[in-house]
Amino acid sequence: LRHLIKGVYPASPSSWLFVAIGILATMYMQSDPSMGLITKIQQHLPLHMSLSAQGQTMVSALVFSTLLWLSLILALRFCLKLLLSYHQWMFEKHGRMSNTTKVWVPLVRLLSSRKPLLYSYQSSLPHLPVPAIQDTVSRYLESVRPLLTDPEFKRMSDLANEFESNLGNRLQRYLKLKALWATNYVSDWWEEYVYLRSRGPIMVNSNYYGMDFLYVTPTSVQAARAGNTITALLLYRRKVNREELKPSRVPGTVIPLCAAQCERMFNTTRTPGVETDVLQHWLDSEFVAVYHRGRYFRLWVYRAGRLLSPREIEDQIQRILDDASPPLPGEEKLGALTAGDRIPWAQMRKQYFSSGVNKRSLDIIERAAFFVTLDDEEQGMRGDDPEGNLDRYAKSLLHGKCYDRWFDKSFSVVIYKNGKSGLNAEHSWADAPTVAHLWEYTLATDAFQLGYTEDGHCKGDVEPSLPQPQRLVWNIPAEVQAQVSSSLAVAQALADDVDCHVFPFREFGKGRIKKCRVSPDAFIQISLQLAYYRDRGGFCLTYEASMTRLFREGRTETVRSCSNESCAFITALESGETEEECRRLFQLASERHQNLYRMAMTGAGIDRHLFCLYVVSKYLGVESPFLKEVLSEPWRLSTSQTPVQQMNLFDLKNHPDFISLGGGFGPVADDGYGVSYIIVGEDMVNFHVSSKYSCSQTDSHRFGVQISKAMQDIMALLSADPKTSLSSKGTGQPQSKKLQ
Ligand SMILES: *[C@@H]1O[C@H](CO)[C@@H](O)[C@H](O)[C@H]1NC(C)=O
Ligand SMILES: *[C@@H]1O[C@H](CO)[C@@H](O)[C@H](O)[C@H]1NC(C)=O
Ligand SMILES: *[C@@H]1O[C@H](CO)[C@@H](O)[C@H](O)[C@H]1NC(C)=O
Repeated sequence: LRHLIKGVYPASPSSWLFVAIGILATMYMQSDPSMGLITKIQQHLPLHMSLSAQGQTMVSALVFSTLLWLSLILALRFCLKLLLSYHQWMFEKHGRMSNTTKVWVPLVRLLSSRKPLLYSYQSSLPHLPVPAIQDTVSRYLESVRPLLTDPEFKRMSDLANEFESNLGNRLQRYLKLKALWATNYVSDWWEEYVYLRSRGPIMVNSNYYGMDFLYVTPTSVQAARAGNTITALLLYRRKVNREELKPSRVPGTVIPLCAAQCERMFNTTRTPGVETDVLQHWLDSEFVAVYHRGRYFRLWVYRAGRLLSPREIEDQIQRILDDASPPLPGEEKLGALTAGDRIPWAQMRKQYFSSGVNKRSLDIIERAAFFVTLDDEEQGMRGDDPEGNLDRYAKSLLHGKCYDRWFDKSFSVVIYKNGKSGLNAEHSWADAPTVAHLWEYTLATDAFQLGYTEDGHCKGDVEPSLPQPQRLVWNIPAEVQAQVSSSLAVAQALADDVDCHVFPFREFGKGRIKKCRVSPDAFIQISLQLAYYRDRGGFCLTYEASMTRLFREGRTETVRSCSNESCAFITALESGETEEECRRLFQLASERHQNLYRMAMTGAGIDRHLFCLYVVSKYLGVESPFLKEVLSEPWRLSTSQTPVQQMNLFDLKNHPDFISLGGGFGPVADDGYGVSYIIVGEDMVNFHVSSKYSCSQTDSHRFGVQISKAMQDIMALLSADPKTSLSSKGTGQPQSKKLQ
C-alpha cells in the first residue's frame, strides 16, 4: 500500500474512484468522454466470451479511467518537477517578489501540500544541471582574486582561459552525456572518489561527531540512558521504514528536499577493500552491536516481532555492564582496524575474517542496526574544569581511544558512565544535516517522550525471560594482533594531534543578528573571516558546506565564503576606516555571501563541477594543469553550519536548559582550522574548532577567542548604526532567513 501511495503522489489512491465515477457518469448520460477509445479498448480486451456486452463496456470504461488517471498523475508530477526547477524566488527579497514567483508560490502549494510520505517527492525533484564551463571558470577566478597577487592571478587566468577554450569543452561534453543518464551527475563520483576510495584513516579525517545537551543529562544511569537512546533511534528507524517521517523542506517554505540519504542510515556499514571501500546495507537487522570494556555483544532489540521496551533494553544493557568476563585475546583493541589505514584492514578482513567464528562475529557487528559503545569514562561540561572537559568530550566522540568505536558503521552511539551521550558518524553515506535530524529526534524523544522514572530509570514493562545478550566469540591470530597494534599506532598519532575546542558563545545569537537585518549565517561567516585574518594575518581559501538537496540525490556544494567583498570589509575595518564605510562594506559582503550561498544551493556552484571535470579528465587519461592546481589547493578554513531542523520538538520556553551542543569534525588541512557551529535558539551559537597540535601556526583556543571577539566587534559596529534602531522590531527580513 505504501508503494501505491508513494507511486501515485501527488494524487491519492482514492482519486481513482472519482475519475472512474466521473467517466461512468458521463457514459450513463449517453456521451462518450473517451472519443472512441473505450470502444477500441473493448475490441482489444480478451473478454468476449465471459461477459455480457454491458459488462464489457463497463470493464473497458474502468480500464480507460485507470489509464486516464495514470496519465493525469504523470502530468501532475511533471508539472511539480517543472515548478521545483524554478529557483529565482530564492534570490528575491521579501515584499519585492517578481510576478512569476507570485504565481509560482500558490501552484507549488497546491501540488505539493497533500500529506506526503518520506519518499513521495523523489520522482518530482529536478536533476542537478551542469553549469556552463565559462560560468564556472569565471566564478572560480572571481573567488581566488582576493587570495592571489597580480602576477599570480595573471598566471591563473591564463591557465583557466587555456582550459576553457581547449580541454574544458571536451570534458564538458562527456559530463553532459553523463548528466543525461545519471540521476545526479556529481553524487556517485563524490561518494566514490572523495569518500570510499580514500585510503587513509577515516577516523578524524572523515568521520564527525554529534553531542548531547549542553547543560543537562536526562539521567545519570548509564544503562537507562542507553535504553532510551536505543529505543529512540529504533523508533526513528521505524518511521524511516514506514516512510512516516515527513520529508524535509527548505525551512519556512513548502519546497521539498531530497530524502535519499535516509535510505542507508541503519543496517549499514562501510567495508574496507584494497582499492576502494564499499557501503553495505542489509534489509533486516533486529539487533544492535554493543562494545563494553573490550568485549563485543549482540543485543536483540525485538522479541517475537515486538520492539523491547526502554526498560527491557536498559536491563539488557545492565547485564552487559555487570558482566565481568575479560576480553578474549586480541578482542579489546580490534576496533583499531577500522581507525587506521584502509588497505591493511582490507587485507586482514579478507584473510582472517571471511570464515569461521571471526566471520560470524564480524557479520554481527557489520549487520547490526547500529553500533553502541558503553564508555567507561565520564564526559560533559562538568567538574572543576568545565571548559577543558568540553574539549575532552569532543575529542572522545571524535576518536575515543581509537579502538572503542566501530568507525566503519554508519554511526556509533556512545553512552558514557555518567549518562552523557553522543555519536560518531561515518561520512560516505550521508551528510551532517541528515544525521543531525536523526540526532535531534533522538535527544528530544529520549528526554521528552520516553522520559525517566524519578530515580532515573527507563519506563516500560519487563518480560522476565529475555535471553542474555550474546557475547561475540573471536579467534584472533598473532598476525591480526600485530596489525591491530600498528593500526592503533597510526590512529593514536592522528588522534593525539587533534586540538579540539568547543565553546558556547552566549553574548548574543540569531535574535540580535536579525535585528541588524543581517542573515545569521553571513554574519558568522564574515566573523570567521575576520577571526582568521587576525589570527593568521591574511585571507585563505574558505570552504563552507551548503546542500544541493533541492535536486534529486543532491549532497553538498562548497560556498567559497572568502569573497572580494568580505576581504574589502575586513581590510577596511582593520585599517581604521570610518564606521559608516565599514558598515557599507559589511552590507555588501553579507549580501555577497548570501548570493554565493544561494548559487551553491541552486546548482550554480564552482567546486563540484570542477571536481567532476577532473574525474572525467582522469577517465580519459588527460592532464589538465588548471584542474590539477585547483583540486590541490588547501582549504585552510573549513566551515559548516549544523542546521536546527526540528525546533518544534524542543520547548526552549519551558525547558531552556535542553540546548543542543551540535557537533563537529576534525581539521581538514594540516595547517588550517575546521569550524562547525550551530545556531541554537535566539541567544546562543555553539562553536566547535579543530586544528592540529603539530602545526605551530594554529591553536584552536586562540582561534576561539578570536571568533568571539570578531563576533562582538562586528555586532558593536552594526549596533552603533543610527539607521537601524535596535529597539524597533526588524521588518523587511531578507528572504535568506529561510535558508537558516
Ligand atoms: C506584475 O504585475 C503587475 C500587476 O498585474 C503589473 O502592474 C506589473 O507591471 C508586473 N510586473 C512585471 C515586472 O511584469
Ligand atoms: C533494517 O532492519 C530492520 C529490522 O529487520 C528492517 O525492518 C528495516 O526494513 C531495515 N531498514 C532498511 C532501511 O532497510
Ligand atoms: C575585487 O576587488 C578588487 C579590489 O577591491 C577590484 O579591483 C575588483 O574589480 C573586484 N573584482 C570583482 C570581480 O568584484
